[in-house]
Amino acid sequence: MTYDPVLLANIDKKDSHTLPVYQSGGGYRGLRRALEDMSPADVVELVKQSGLRGRGGAGFPTGAKWSFLPKNHPGPVYFCVNADESEPGTFVNRVQMELDPHQVLEGTIISCYATGASTAYIYLRHEYPLARRRMQAAVGECYAAGLLGENILGGGFSLDVHIHVGAGAYVCGEETGLIESIEGRRAWPRIKPPYPAVEGLFRKPTVVNNVETLACVKQIVDRGADWFRSMGTPPDPNDPRDPGSFGPKLFGLSGHVNRPGCYEAPLGITVRRLIDEYGGGVWKGRRAKAAIVGGLSTGLVTEAEFDTPLDFSAPIRAGCLGLGTGGVIVLDETYSMIDFLHNSCRFFAHESCGQCTPCREGTQWALEMLERIRAGRGRLRDLDLLREIGETIGIMPGTTICGLADGAAWPIKTALGKFREEFEGYVKEPTTV
Ligand SMILES: Cc1cc2nc3c(=O)[nH]c(=O)nc-3n(C[C@H](O)[C@H](O)[C@H](O)COP(=O)(O)O)c2cc1C
Ligand code: SF4
Repeated sequence: MTYDPVLLANIDKKDSHTLPVYQSGGGYRGLRRALEDMSPADVVELVKQSGLRGRGGAGFPTGAKWSFLPKNHPGPVYFCVNADESEPGTFVNRVQMELDPHQVLEGTIISCYATGASTAYIYLRHEYPLARRRMQAAVGECYAAGLLGENILGGGFSLDVHIHVGAGAYVCGEETGLIESIEGRRAWPRIKPPYPAVEGLFRKPTVVNNVETLACVKQIVDRGADWFRSMGTPPDPNDPRDPGSFGPKLFGLSGHVNRPGCYEAPLGITVRRLIDEYGGGVWKGRRAKAAIVGGLSTGLVTEAEFDTPLDFSAPIRAGCLGLGTGGVIVLDETYSMIDFLHNSCRFFAHESCGQCTPCREGTQWALEMLERIRAGRGRLRDLDLLREIGETIGIMPGTTICGLADGAAWPIKTALGKFREEFEGYVKEPTTV
């Protein structure tokens, strides 16, 4: 491990969450430089050049997303910081907000300057009380120091930041569900288009970005686009749609591993290196059976696929949804795939908001079948029915409004696709696993 963390560089300092400690390490110098020496368009261009892709799950290019805002809009433009972080296996945003809230805020202020947003909402999940207190205190410190409010640092730019505590559902993290929730309604995702950049919060142009994405923006303004592009995976020459995967990434490593935790590494580190070098290997001297690559919704790679690089493309080639949030969950050789899939189906059936029939019914059917299989009453044809559900629910097959249903489908598709024998064995002889 020769990589020196950047996003996590401050977290071991005493009182790392306070403004004086953050500033003693050079904090807010990047903001000052951006306000003094760069136009908003310069910041957008810099972020585009860096190749930054959103860290919230979909990997959408951040600079391109900002460019979708209508030009010369009379305003207001809103900015939403997605700190809902409810994907199972994902906890890196919590670490950032608890231990380095000013890095997140500096990235937010710079991003609002770039996009012309005058108000930012930090949508923070209810279950993160320490993160909430630290973010709120950091916002207070910024107002007192002239880093928020009217005429920030005398540069003519003004911004208000509000913390909005989430209502406690996974779907609140879906960007239009989040917007509905801030507006005071149930977090039912909206049909798109229109996309938030055109019609978002309070029907005004809106940007939604993840906490880690914004921390990356701060680092890009400090260190430059070339620094950011110096690490990661270049575009695949055989795939004209692959813009590459650049920069540092936070990985939440959990499950059956000796040292679970939040680790920073360049994009492209393999699943195996993350588990062995950062996580100290599989626990109890056991072998791994599989791992979730990037939060539950992305699905599984088998132990034989652990040399898969954790970038935005390789997990797709390994049969998964994508890199997702980078939440890697290790499953050891003793863990039952039936239990894994049962847990997964319980989660998604519980979290479906119910608007779309394929998601509302499909996640429930899948759960009922898993319950039946687990109780020893499964039929072989249930496995095919499960596959069928996995292949037909979701925004990608075009049957649902949001990606929650796709997230429910990938654990089903990968578990059944890669561990079919175990499922068949259990159906035929329920006590053997
Ligand atoms: C069901 C569901 C839950 C989501 N939860 C989150 C979340 O907690 N945090 C997040 O940043 N993105 C989440 N997303 C992705 C957001 O819709 C959105 O793509 C993201 O916030 C954009 O930020 P980025 O471009 O910086 O990645 C979720 C998506 C879906 C479909
Ligand atoms: S896919 Fe599921 S969670 Fe998303 S809007 Fe439809 S019912 Fe709700």
